[in-house]
Amino acid sequence: MYRYTCKNNQDELLFELKREVFHPTDTSSILIEACGKAITSPKKILDLGCGCGLVGIALAKMGLCKGPVYASDLSGEAIELARKNAERMSVEYVARRGSMFEPWDGEKFDVIVDDVAGISDDIAGISPWYPEGVSCGAGRDGVKWIVQIIEQSGRHLNEGGMFIFPILSLSNADKIIQSLRGAYSSYEIIAKKDWFLPDAMAARQDILMPLINDGSIICHKKYGKWIWYTHIYKANV
Ligand SMILES: C[S@@+](CC[C@H](N)C(=O)[O-])C[C@H]1O[C@@H](n2cnc3c(N)ncnc32)[C@H](O)[C@@H]1O
Repeated sequence: MYRYTCKNNQDELLFELKREVFHPTDTSSILIEACGKAITSPKKILDLGCGCGLVGIALAKMGLCKGPVYASDLSGEAIELARKNAERMSVEYVARRGSMFEPWDGEKFDVIVDDVAGISDDIAGISPWYPEGVSCGAGRDGVKWIVQIIEQSGRHLNEGGMFIFPILSLSNADKIIQSLRGAYSSYEIIAKKDWFLPDAMAARQDILMPLINDGSIICHKKYGKWIWYTHIYKANV
């Protein structure tokens, strides 16, 4: 089980987890907190890359969803689990399986919160976050999904809508920002956090150094440790 405490009302939420479904990380919590500040009244929200359902369900429990939570993921197991978690917490939930916006053809939202896998596949392979059975598939530089999602997000947003997503520097952040600049005239960073790379991953110089050297990921050294970052972006139509 995974416990999440809503920052605004201290509600304690308990999520069932499964080996084959992504386990929430500190980036999930930062994303929820940033959404909690950016969304100031209840909105029609899409949780893209929902995993066990944490982000959308937490936003609903914080009183930020108008109508059901809409959620999707590439993984059928994730969809099944997210539905189960929503039902146990009495959250109205519409969950669909599919890649990126495939399940939402012709549909629009006030807020899209995207958390689809966005790190280098090589990093995912040496990380504890993507065990066998949990799909990353974002390519060597981690941008395969996010660049397409950025390009397609505008046509799924209502007038005045918001697109909120994390950029993890374990991907080619510059490439992602370039596509964001092409798709949105207005965007900003609404939360930032630096992390130490876990020792077991830092020890894999054979994987890390080629990725750093060709710009596929951005890491720098501090106090003799590798540091990477999460930035949460909000773009407005
Ligand atoms: C970083 S996890 C986020 C899960 C959840 N938001 C959380 O915080 O625990 C990324 C999710 O993206 C899903 N995913 C990977 N590729 C996808 C794609 N092409 N389309 C939709 N979801 C995808 C994975 O199955 C995984 O559940």
